[in-house]
Amino acid sequence: MGGIQARMEAALARFLPAAGIAPARLHEAMRYAVLEGGKRVRPLLTFAAGEAAGARPERLEVAAAAVELIHAYSLVHDDLPCMDDDVLRRGKPTVHVEYDEATALLVGDALQSLAFQLLAEHALADEPAAQLDMLRQLAAAAGSRGMAGGQQIDLESTGKPLSVPELEAMHIHKTGALIRAAVLLGAACGGAPEALRTRLDHYAKTVGLAFQVVDDVLDAEASSATLGKTAGKDARQGKPTYVSIMGLARARELARELRHNAHQALAPLGAEARRLRELADFIVLRKF
Ligand code: IPE
Ligand code: IPE
Ligand code: MG
Ligand code: MG
Ligand code: MG
Repeated sequence: MGGIQARMEAALARFLPAAGIAPARLHEAMRYAVLEGGKRVRPLLTFAAGEAAGARPERLEVAAAAVELIHAYSLVHDDLPCMDDDVLRRGKPTVHVEYDEATALLVGDALQSLAFQLLAEHALADEPAAQLDMLRQLAAAAGSRGMAGGQQIDLESTGKPLSVPELEAMHIHKTGALIRAAVLLGAACGGAPEALRTRLDHYAKTVGLAFQVVDDVLDAEASSATLGKTAGKDARQGKPTYVSIMGLARARELARELRHNAHQALAPLGAEARRLRELADFIVLRKF
């Protein structure tokens, strides 16, 4: 996995405008937001799904970068004072603290545009219609019925007790949608047949929810130093989370169940799904 992460770091550094290009402050801040410090779980999922579908790495690195740019944008905006009001991200001051709020807003806007530009500029599928479908999938995952919509639910739910189905819907949107896109874009780069896509989709939905359940658990039990972001904030801000709704022990148990379900989804696949299995384990067992 280290090899893919290094490859992604280099690809992202190449795809982002150089810090010296005008407007230099915006480009410098975009690079600050994206480069160094992220776990790169979504790119790893794109590569892992691509491996299961026999995709070429040159395609995967573009699709993975597009997803990671959307993710990085979502973090910059999530940390803004009008949202979670966070000062620490990936072990560094957040973008609005290091630069300023207006720049952070524009960093998010520009990263989102760059993601779609990458998908439009590189050949990622054999048929134009398949490539268009990749653009559509990422747009849907990032938009009001995906990540942005989930963030709206998060804001509206702060201070309110949600039912478990409501909580699940919030997590599936704010975090699950983009993780699902990471997997499906990887599969699309390899032109995966329908049966494999359906199987990978099931896996992706399961690990997408697991990812946010574990994020909630870590917020409650890990330290800011290990997370590289402020721990304990969900409780302080009155966010409904799996921990606040069902308690730490049950949330941990649910994450374990989801890990099992993710493995089940991959059960008929062979060695080509090894990385997907490893990532399901990492997503649930991680400590940061
Ligand atoms: C944090 O995502 C925000 C959520 C969607 C839960 P990550 O835990 O993947 O953050 P980085 O990319 O490693 O910083
Ligand atoms: C973030 O959820 C989801 C998105 C950024 C879309 P959180 O608000 O829980 O993420 P962290 O804990 O700040 O990374
Ligand atoms: Mg948030
Ligand atoms: Mg947050
Ligand atoms: Mg969180």
